[in-house]
Amino acid sequence: MKKCHSMCLKTACLLLTYFAISASSYSVSSHRSKAALNTALKSTTQHFYGYGDPDHVKSTLQNITEEREASTPPASSHPDPVLLEKLSDIRSRLGPPLNLYDQIMSQQPAMALAAEFKRASPSKGQIALSEISCGAQASSYFTAGASIISVLTEPNHFKGSLSDMLSARSETQSLASKLNLPRPCILRKDFITSRHMILEAASHGADTVLLIVAVTPSDVLKELIEYSRELGMEPLVEIHADEELDVALKGGAKVIGVNNRNLHTFKMDMTTTTKFAERVGEDICLCSLSGMSSADDVERYRGDGVRMVLIGESLMRSRSPELAIKSLGLDPRVEREEEGRGGAYNGGLKVVKVCGVCEEEDAVKACREGANMIGVIFAESKRKCSRENAKKVVQSVRKFGERSDREDLRNGITRGIKRPLVVGVFQNEKVSVINEIVQDVGIDVVQLHGDEGEGCIPEISVPCIRVVSVPESDERSVEERGGEILEKVTERPLAYLLDTKVGGREGGTGVTFDHDIVQVVQSGGVPVIVAGGLSEGNVREVARAGCFGVDVSSGVEKEVGKKDDAKIKKFVDEAWRGGEEGMQGI
Ligand SMILES: *[C@@H]1O[C@H](CO)[C@@H](O)[C@H](O)[C@H]1NC(C)=O
Repeated sequence: MKKCHSMCLKTACLLLTYFAISASSYSVSSHRSKAALNTALKSTTQHFYGYGDPDHVKSTLQNITEEREASTPPASSHPDPVLLEKLSDIRSRLGPPLNLYDQIMSQQPAMALAAEFKRASPSKGQIALSEISCGAQASSYFTAGASIISVLTEPNHFKGSLSDMLSARSETQSLASKLNLPRPCILRKDFITSRHMILEAASHGADTVLLIVAVTPSDVLKELIEYSRELGMEPLVEIHADEELDVALKGGAKVIGVNNRNLHTFKMDMTTTTKFAERVGEDICLCSLSGMSSADDVERYRGDGVRMVLIGESLMRSRSPELAIKSLGLDPRVEREEEGRGGAYNGGLKVVKVCGVCEEEDAVKACREGANMIGVIFAESKRKCSRENAKKVVQSVRKFGERSDREDLRNGITRGIKRPLVVGVFQNEKVSVINEIVQDVGIDVVQLHGDEGEGCIPEISVPCIRVVSVPESDERSVEERGGEILEKVTERPLAYLLDTKVGGREGGTGVTFDHDIVQVVQSGGVPVIVAGGLSEGNVREVARAGCFGVDVSSGVEKEVGKKDDAKIKKFVDEAWRGGEEGMQGI
């Protein structure tokens, strides 16, 4: 039988032994009975995930932490002299560390922004090009307004290194002094289990370190917090589960970061931060560490009293960190209003759309398998649907979703669609005709497929999805091509549907589709639904890359206009699976 908290025991044993040694009480600890040690462990590790569960399978977080611990030098009562030497060298060259608490407070009333450098993650694999320079990326975060730079230093799963962190420190510091601005604070993000790793951080230019309560016995947490302070660093203490707040507070944490994502199961819950906000006092500097996908989220946290947000992967992916940071509203309110758009969209897959549906049975089938948008075509097409059939589709979709009226979408759909919607597809149709059909048939959303532009959107009685073609790949950079799309945004549609096949061009099969375009458009604040050439074979990968939606029509047909049950099921499953994978990652 797998022993219940074997991981906890191993980690905690190592750590407890180390601290026992460092407190020069080796003899005491070695003579401690096993039972006494177990009792001590229980009180310090019972907040661990899976504690006491005999069938517990260690989470990725627990596995990585354990692996990290195994790769650190064995505990010793003396700090590594090489590191001490490095520390005194770096402090004499670059000066003392910045205090994280003061750094965050100095940004108030504005929200402090921590921007993260991460090359890869266990669930997503490679995130950035391997040649990307951490120093350069950190500098661009800094010029975009980040006052804290977080650097992943774990080598195996995140492809990070201490030298990445050191380059972030030295390059941002020299840039700041050139610009005559206060420099950003450098955070070592890793799975820190020992004093050794804290000393390592300090001697490689860190101003602060991350300590994760979920994998740290409570007495060890206290020791590590105190040791960080001895080295002049105020640590960022990460919590997620309810009981972890008490552990953090008892350990003396002053800067507490709430991870909205459960690091063991990867589930994201944006209310996590809000719940903790009600429980901590004014003296604690509360931060939110994951999941912000729009200016709305940031604004909500501002209202909750959150003082710093950490933005990670979306900045690495956007390759236009300035734009992404700006659109998250992490600078003055005015700018957001001028822009007239919400924040960058990086909330992951929220829409699986099956288009070209004209039969009640097909619509119900798609809904049952988990599609949440059913497209009915009113434009000239091989799949054009009669009004009579369209009405039947609407009725069956409403019945499936247990609603009797049109869905109210005034607050947008980027937080997800609870009940499936019917989308009517039009091309170069008169607004009066569109509105009449909307009214008569009862559709929820209009999709504009022609070159009617966006001027008519305000006149259409329901929210619109706008179809745009993907600019040809040419000499221009992805930013320029994506920028071309963004320049044309005048009215704010619910989403853009990027179609690789618009204009009669056989765009491609999803293989040639340049997903960086999606990232650029989404970082400009417009959610993107990817269409054209999607099938069960490629949709998972497309969904994983972080688009807002996917759209399929011929890819799930057995013949024109007739959907294939098995293909719908496979497509929808693969899409949501990809979407889920896309939202994972620590
Ligand atoms: C963690 O490692 C154990 C083996 O040591 C393995 O059984 C388990 O599946 C791993 N957990 C995850 C989430 O991969």
